[in-house]
Amino acid sequence: MADKIKKAYQSTTSIYDAIMTQSSFIGRLYMKLFWGGVDDNEIAEKLLAYIPKDFVGTILDVPVGTAVFTYQKWRTLSSAQIFCIDYSEEMLLQAEQRLHGCAHITCMQGDVGNLPFAAGAMDMVVSMNGFHVFPDKEKAFHETWRVLKPGGKLLACFYIKGKSGISDWLARTILTAKGLFTPPFYTEQEVETVLAELYAQTELYTDGSMVYFACTK
Ligand SMILES: C[S@@+](CC[C@H](N)C(=O)[O-])C[C@H]1O[C@@H](n2cnc3c(N)ncnc32)[C@H](O)[C@@H]1O
Repeated sequence: MADKIKKAYQSTTSIYDAIMTQSSFIGRLYMKLFWGGVDDNEIAEKLLAYIPKDFVGTILDVPVGTAVFTYQKWRTLSSAQIFCIDYSEEMLLQAEQRLHGCAHITCMQGDVGNLPFAAGAMDMVVSMNGFHVFPDKEKAFHETWRVLKPGGKLLACFYIKGKSGISDWLARTILTAKGLFTPPFYTEQEVETVLAELYAQTELYTDGSMVYFACTK
């Protein structure tokens, strides 16, 4: 499973940013046809707004991917200590290039299901578009919770099933076959249940087939 995911993201690295940020015509068309025009740029802006401009503390960005949605913010947070983790070397290479020269940022290859940090090491965990890809989602929820301090925040967004027939079809056929998504996928209700078990407080929103939320441990 890990190899399939790594290969899938290796082969899409060159077009990934243009699709996800809708900076290309194909990207805009893809998001409009299959995802009802959901704009990940807007979701990223809303999630990252939970982190103040003068933030001091530790942040984990997992999976960082190419850091397309996070690098600008991470570069400015020079009083923070930021760790960026991804499975895919190719995606990580792009992130490293974007974050180059920032002594407060460390990029490393790793698995969200086995994070190399002590319990309570992080003030914030940011996870954009990861949970619909992670092979072991329960482990990922547990590990991101474990590394957070009490009072720390998980800021995340990902695909949920049950909101759009066309998005659900694409997710369970082509994207799963290619290794870009990994079932089982959660419904909104299932996400709410998981988060309620782990976190003291959750603010949760949906936009089309995307759920995004800020949870406090
Ligand atoms: C859709 S991309 C999201 C990247 C970035 N956060 C974004 O929003 O653009 C999903 C990423 O998850 C990574 N990934 C998948 N399973 C992983 C795991 N178990 N641990 C760490 N990264 C993983 C893939 O390599 C890929 O780069």
